[in-house]
Amino acid sequence: MKTLIEPFRIKSVEPIRMTTRKEREAILRAAHYNLFKIKSDDVILDFLTDSGTSAMSAAQWAALIQGDESYACASSFYRFEKAVRKITKFDHVIPTHQGRASERLLFSVVLQTGDIVPNNNHFDTTRANIEYAGAEALDLVIEEGRQPELDYPFKGNIDVARLEALLEKEATRVPLCMLTVTNNTGGGQPVSMQNIRDTKRVLKKYGIPLFLDACRFAENAYFIKKREAGYEDTSILEIVNEMFSYTDGCTMSAKKDAFANIGGFIALNDEAVTGKIRNLLILTEGFATYGGLAGRDLDAIAVGLEEIIDEDYLRYRLRTVEYIGEKLMDNGIAIVRPTGGHALYIDARSFYPDIPFNEFPGQALCCELYLNGGIRGCEIGTLMFGKRDADGNDIAASMELVRLAFPRRVYTQAHFDYAAEVIIACHSARQEVKGLKIVKAPEFLRHFTVELERL
Ligand code: F0G
Repeated sequence: MKTLIEPFRIKSVEPIRMTTRKEREAILRAAHYNLFKIKSDDVILDFLTDSGTSAMSAAQWAALIQGDESYACASSFYRFEKAVRKITKFDHVIPTHQGRASERLLFSVVLQTGDIVPNNNHFDTTRANIEYAGAEALDLVIEEGRQPELDYPFKGNIDVARLEALLEKEATRVPLCMLTVTNNTGGGQPVSMQNIRDTKRVLKKYGIPLFLDACRFAENAYFIKKREAGYEDTSILEIVNEMFSYTDGCTMSAKKDAFANIGGFIALNDEAVTGKIRNLLILTEGFATYGGLAGRDLDAIAVGLEEIIDEDYLRYRLRTVEYIGEKLMDNGIAIVRPTGGHALYIDARSFYPDIPFNEFPGQALCCELYLNGGIRGCEIGTLMFGKRDADGNDIAASMELVRLAFPRRVYTQAHFDYAAEVIIACHSARQEVKGLKIVKAPEFLRHFTVELERL
């Protein structure tokens, strides 16, 4: 059959409060045109993030009841450890409360001032934690990965030649290299198995460990199965195991590819580093067998890690993004291509060619999506990156994008049809839309709290 159905039935539902355009106009004005300030009850489709927003399965909810809340060596930890080992095969598993906690712990232990950490693209929190440790976060994604409309199967790949050139000069300053799978900052684009293998080969010469930022490891594995020669008949578990086999450790946010609402981990082979991380974990997060989580969270993650490698699920997951992407492209709307694993990225610069970067075309589109259909997305452009020159004028970000990130197992095909209809309607009315200006902004991370006004 041509129709690909959601491979689940819905047992428990959350009502969506329907709002009128008139109500949304008042809500948006009261929120000063900043969607982070809108109450979730006032949102019809919430595409702000795919992180921590998954629907848990009946099996995960059942597992919560088995949560062992003992302080030390709870049985929940051993179920969690077993599930992480099945995926990664690493010797040591350290639970954390989410991805950025894993990053902070790892970097506090392995980085020194003046170090460099290469990656395809660092996610914001990864970059911030590296910089906080006094080191430099270096993005080395391939040239193809920097061109939004270029169709290329593995736009998340790291540029191995540039990595090699860096190491020839600066190897002593590089205590580890990372690869983000899939590459969130670059549009949820995958990294090929060949690229992971090549990266490891180069690093091995210098004895430098490779870590995966593994948040969306299963989505990446499915892209490998579909796009990389030789993996058509390989199971997702085998692909995942092979991905991790070329690496020495990983940081993980279980809020993505583990279907959990909270949680994360570090898994690795190095015993000395593990010891140091565990000491720090106990100091700031919790005992080594719970790391700031409840026992029941560990059980939910353990079950989620089993469920995420299901091929029927992954086929549906990646097809969803592709499906809405096709509808938009058929209507002449520019998006980051090919569609990635967890989100759709609309090119706001070509959506509103007459709105200059310093009037925030991405934010204008976010406001229109909300007004027209109650959809909440996120601007990734000049408002978010917000660099200014000496006179306080905005400097243009490299791209003006709007990210619609899709929670896992939450919305149905009708929701996506509706979303496409809203976006296409906004596109038809694009001539009438004006940009925005900032009324009030904090010094750092301004997009979270900024107040804007319509021009
Ligand atoms: N690494 C990547 C690639 C991520 O996408 C995220 C989170 C993190 C690390 C940090 O994990 O949130 O559990 O601390 N990304 C979310 C997003 C917030 O919306 O893309 P965390």
